[in-house]
Amino acid sequence: MVGRRRRRDEPGEVVDVRCGRGRCVHGRCVHGCCGGHGSIQPPADRHGGRTSSEGTGMDARASRADAEREADVEGRARADGDEAWLLGFDGFDPETEGRREALCTLGNGYWGTRGAAPECAADAVHYPGTYLAGVYNPLHTDLGEHSRDDEHMVNAPNWLPLGFRIAGGEWFRPGSPDVLDYRQELDLRRGVLTRFVRIRDLAGRTSMVTSRRFVSQAAPHLAVLETTFEAVDWSGTVTVRSGVDGRVANRNVVADALLAAGHLVTRSTEQVTIDTVLLQMETTRSGVHIAMAARTRAYAGDRPLTPERRFERDPAGWVAQEFDLPLEPGHPVRVEKTVAVSTSRDRAVLSAPAAVTTWLERAGDPAELLAAHEREWEGLWDEFAVSLQSGDHQALALNLNTFHVLQTLAGVDADLDAGVPARGLSGEGYRGHVFWDEAFVYPILTLRRPDLSRALLGYRYRRLNEARAAARAAGRTGAMFPWQSGIDGREVTPAELFNPRSGRWLPDNSYRQRHVGLAIAYSVWKYYQATGDADFLVHQGAELILEIARFFASLAIHDQAADRYDIDEVMGPDEFHDGPPGVPGAGLRNNTYTNVLTAWVLGRAVETVALLAGRNCRPLWNRLRLRPDEVDGWERISRRMRVVFHSDGVPSQFDGYEDLPEFDWAGYRERYGDIGRLDLILEAEGDSTNNYRLSKQADVLMLLYLFSAEELREQLEALGYELSPEAVVRTVDFYGARSTHGSTLSNVVHSWVEARRDRERSWQFLGRALASDLADIQGDTTHEGIHLGAMAGSVDMVLRCYSGLEIRDDVLWLHPVLPAELDQVAFSINYRDQPIRLELTRTTLRLRLRAGGAAPIVVRVEGREAVLSPGETRDFPLGD
Ligand code: BGC
Repeated sequence: MVGRRRRRDEPGEVVDVRCGRGRCVHGRCVHGCCGGHGSIQPPADRHGGRTSSEGTGMDARASRADAEREADVEGRARADGDEAWLLGFDGFDPETEGRREALCTLGNGYWGTRGAAPECAADAVHYPGTYLAGVYNPLHTDLGEHSRDDEHMVNAPNWLPLGFRIAGGEWFRPGSPDVLDYRQELDLRRGVLTRFVRIRDLAGRTSMVTSRRFVSQAAPHLAVLETTFEAVDWSGTVTVRSGVDGRVANRNVVADALLAAGHLVTRSTEQVTIDTVLLQMETTRSGVHIAMAARTRAYAGDRPLTPERRFERDPAGWVAQEFDLPLEPGHPVRVEKTVAVSTSRDRAVLSAPAAVTTWLERAGDPAELLAAHEREWEGLWDEFAVSLQSGDHQALALNLNTFHVLQTLAGVDADLDAGVPARGLSGEGYRGHVFWDEAFVYPILTLRRPDLSRALLGYRYRRLNEARAAARAAGRTGAMFPWQSGIDGREVTPAELFNPRSGRWLPDNSYRQRHVGLAIAYSVWKYYQATGDADFLVHQGAELILEIARFFASLAIHDQAADRYDIDEVMGPDEFHDGPPGVPGAGLRNNTYTNVLTAWVLGRAVETVALLAGRNCRPLWNRLRLRPDEVDGWERISRRMRVVFHSDGVPSQFDGYEDLPEFDWAGYRERYGDIGRLDLILEAEGDSTNNYRLSKQADVLMLLYLFSAEELREQLEALGYELSPEAVVRTVDFYGARSTHGSTLSNVVHSWVEARRDRERSWQFLGRALASDLADIQGDTTHEGIHLGAMAGSVDMVLRCYSGLEIRDDVLWLHPVLPAELDQVAFSINYRDQPIRLELTRTTLRLRLRAGGAAPIVVRVEGREAVLSPGETRDFPLGD
């Protein structure tokens, strides 16, 4: 992640002074105060003779306020190796800036902001997107016969703008030739993004500018950008412009360039106090009112500065203040920008503008806010960190991926009413829509913070009526959840997609992926199993399961002759098949993944009804009005779904898959290199992926991701089919050889299914899954946002797959299998209110139960059962 360095060979100023903050990594320090790698560094007294922790406001006061805790964190940082916690970038590289911005996004569940330069508006290099969870807006685009309505997660006003110019010169831009040094570092442990810039202008003036920012985990509506200016060898003024910019549009995704993109209209721009400006905007159709206020203060050390402020506004959505600050060597000045945001979706506020101005009035200084923010992250990492004895690269990727999951979701509660956007809050890929990817995310949340899974499942529950209406409109019963979901749960999958290779608009039939509903029901049941949360089941979970079951039962067609049930006209997860050859878009018959999962969900629906018997859930029964014969019908279907097999016993992806010809993998790889988007390649050639045995991603193999081989065998047996262990191996081989892994999710699934068969291969797939965004493995998609499902799934690999962790019948099963590259893994879970630390080596599994009042738990380690009580530590020997 270290990009190009700029002008390293600048003469003079090579010093070897450590700042003593203990956060210098790779021999370099983002505070700009240490020497490292022999690179050019400013002398120590450039901070006014103090170490940088004394020099800047947030650092100085945060460390005073919380010195003890800091020491502890520092101690741990050294123990774990900072390399695993610091994502550093050297130099400024316009080509990869978009990816860097997405990777360096900071958020807290309520909102997220890309790690863009505060000096730049959106252009071909920079994209300072800010996204508010759950804030969507539909827009109409007039494209003649391709006219359309599309719903997007809205790019909200940009709160970052903080421009500066030295001594009346040009406004600074990151790519300018003045830049001597440009370094950026994301501290995953603290959720802080720091940037150090050293510049020398044409007049030979050298200046250092250090900024750091965070989006508060402790105060979800607040964010801070603190910038310190230092004149190295000159005296004069630095002019600063601090504002909020609502002149933004949704322009992050190149493929969406033809679509309407202006989601916001301005309501007002004003200066509310001497140091605070306020911007109010509204989304054009969903009518969400957004208020953003920025308070900007300047200090020399602890002394507040009172520059004369020039107020600027543009009715198109810009409000700012500009002021001059005096600079001289040895006397840095600090500009603290604290920002508050609120929308009309917030609870317990008078109005969005009233809320933001009140919060800013009350907000402490950045140092206090930072201390509280760090405490929250410390708590989150205590719950979520997974430590690995492996290369730092894997550990860094694992932490980065966990970090993104947490900053997208850790702040979500029922009031926020947000789902799991496929690209988090870091870009506009997939328009911020919610797909089935949540199924890859829940496991790592439920095992630590089940309340988060519950809140996120609530997003689905609140859209149940919309799903009911969709089922009715399709002539079915129950609830048909949309493949892509946004503000109200209607289907928002675009009707067409543009193929830049052929210049043609193609119908997008992926809405036929009805399996999204099955994934929701699966997640509800798994949540219940992990937590035993009957209250959730009664109030939301059961209704979801039963309505989804109802829908799939209404899809199942009874073949009387064979006494089997078929499901037709659907797509599986493999988006490269939307119909039989020659009938694109017609959907497929008997997609094995859909059918087997339907049978399973119907079985759980029957179990749910039995579970609720005798409980006080009359309102639920009133809403559902279950007919007595319905449950019997589900039970029957759950035993008689059809599964189609190939002649060698491999479950067929769908009816007819075996008849498709093989694809010329070698030829196409040679011709095109990257064949991840074979659908577009073949369409441009007048061919179709429907015509071949291939897949974009795991489809049948998803079953071995959701169920153990043993469970899957049992399920098929219950359906009257046989799946021998040899057939499982053949199945993995067959589909493994025919996937383009065109979705980042596919690497997770393949890593999982190989874990117990070919550990080396599993490790390779995991490497790819871990690096999905860090290495941008899909060739330049990360700049449109990180891939949250793959990020979470890669963490889950270490958490559940390699430890063999399953929750079945009120027993915590563990059956560890570490790949050769992993000697040791440790993490914590929260099982049935009992915090447990798991420490895994090749030879031993140690379980440490925290002392407390939880009930004893039953564990089964490699088949041996034991009952453990709070406070107990037990070692289980493992055979390799
Ligand atoms: C995958 C889907 C996934 C979506 C959003 C697509 O490329 O095929 O399975 O849900 O991306 O991540």
